Amino acid sequence: MSRPAHRVTIFGAGYIGLVAGACFAELGHHVTIRDIQPERVRILNSGEVPIYEPGLGDMLARNKERLSYTLDGDEAVRDADVAYICVDTPPTASGDADLSRVWAVIDTLGTAGHLKAVVVKSTVPVGTGERIRRALDEAGLGHVGYASNPEFTAEGRAITDFMRPDRIVIGATDTETADLVAALHDGIDGPVDVMDIASAEMVKMAANALLATKISFTNEIAALCEATGADITHVTRAIGQDHRLGPHFMNAGLGYGGSCFPKDSRALRALASNTGYPFQLLTAVIEVNELQPRRAVQRLKTQLGTLKGRTVTLLGMTFKPGTDDMREAPSTIIAARLLAEGAHVRCWDPMARPGPGAPWDTAERHPGISEALDHADAAVVVTEWPELRDTDWSAHVTRMQTPVIFDGRNVLDLTTMQALGYTYLSVGRASGPEHTA
Ligand code: UDX
Repeated sequence: MSRPAHRVTIFGAGYIGLVAGACFAELGHHVTIRDIQPERVRILNSGEVPIYEPGLGDMLARNKERLSYTLDGDEAVRDADVAYICVDTPPTASGDADLSRVWAVIDTLGTAGHLKAVVVKSTVPVGTGERIRRALDEAGLGHVGYASNPEFTAEGRAITDFMRPDRIVIGATDTETADLVAALHDGIDGPVDVMDIASAEMVKMAANALLATKISFTNEIAALCEATGADITHVTRAIGQDHRLGPHFMNAGLGYGGSCFPKDSRALRALASNTGYPFQLLTAVIEVNELQPRRAVQRLKTQLGTLKGRTVTLLGMTFKPGTDDMREAPSTIIAARLLAEGAHVRCWDPMARPGPGAPWDTAERHPGISEALDHADAAVVVTEWPELRDTDWSAHVTRMQTPVIFDGRNVLDLTTMQALGYTYLSVGRASGPEHTA
């Protein structure tokens, strides 16, 4: 049951491009991955992986005879049937998506008349595909098909999400291109949903916005729970049993971070504003999210009286567990706020790779949880790493100067922590002496 192999060029060796490239190679296609960062290409050519994503290194190694990496855009598409655009689209000052990297790739394709299709996987504002289609036509590539094939993979489980998707969305104007993109996914067990290009672009933005809405809604209910004495974990558990709502994306906490939700929700709001439509619901979702880490610092300040001169340990730095990604991580806001209040900030994380600009220069990073907690006045559970559930909290209680824990992800057991002698604060659960209702 051999499937026809295609020659696919992936532009962008980031989380999305590397995972797509590895998975297409696993499905039997020949894949060239092109990136503009020499160091990234060098690392990949040496057999290493420049990012952490479970299973990715093994998959790249297993399919290495069908994978190549290059800096050269012309060389990358020389023999390709399909060019996949997986470059990043960071926000501009106005909140719109910066599409300059996408356009740079389109420029590279100018001489690639042999291509059968150009496919965009990067998250782009609705309407981008139509503009790219016009640009391709003007560049003499009118015969090359165009498709939008948005990505729904989450970091930390991207390989599984790609190989076992809930759906494969393909936006195209002609059946031939849609069929070609669908054929690239042969071997994957998941429904293919073909639609027009603008709708496919909207699916991605709207899906992320709805998930972000669910999180912010839960965080608002959590704030009400704190004020009224209800417990958000009981509330969401029972709400989640309603099959119309489902249990997912209802964990109250320090808010969403990462490379997608913050950026995509702002981009959708900007898109709406640009069309003269104020997307008020999404504006509130974004505001609630921005408030979450600040509320945590404020509650800690109330608990400790002052943050000036206090040592606060951040347990977890990445935006979620299972990744080394620090993009839009709530930890960066919490650290910056604590430093601004005059606190000493320490941190622990098993995997974080702090990039330039993060406030870690002034924060001490410790390799072990015990060391990080030594003589601390308080600790904040920022990322729900499993190590934090498993660590011996009974030993830490005397290690800390004052055993104050702010569990920003509600991962620890409230009664156990209180029984151990901690002043235990969490999100949306009446806990600790601060609750006097
Ligand atoms: C997300 C989408 O899930 C994925 O479909 C899209 O392609 C890219 O964006 P990702 O950013 O990798 O993926 O992480 P995800 O697991 O969805 O979590 C996003 C953020 O929301 C994290 O900061 C997480 O801590 C937070 N979150 C998630 C909550 O605060 N509460 C929840 O209930 C769920």
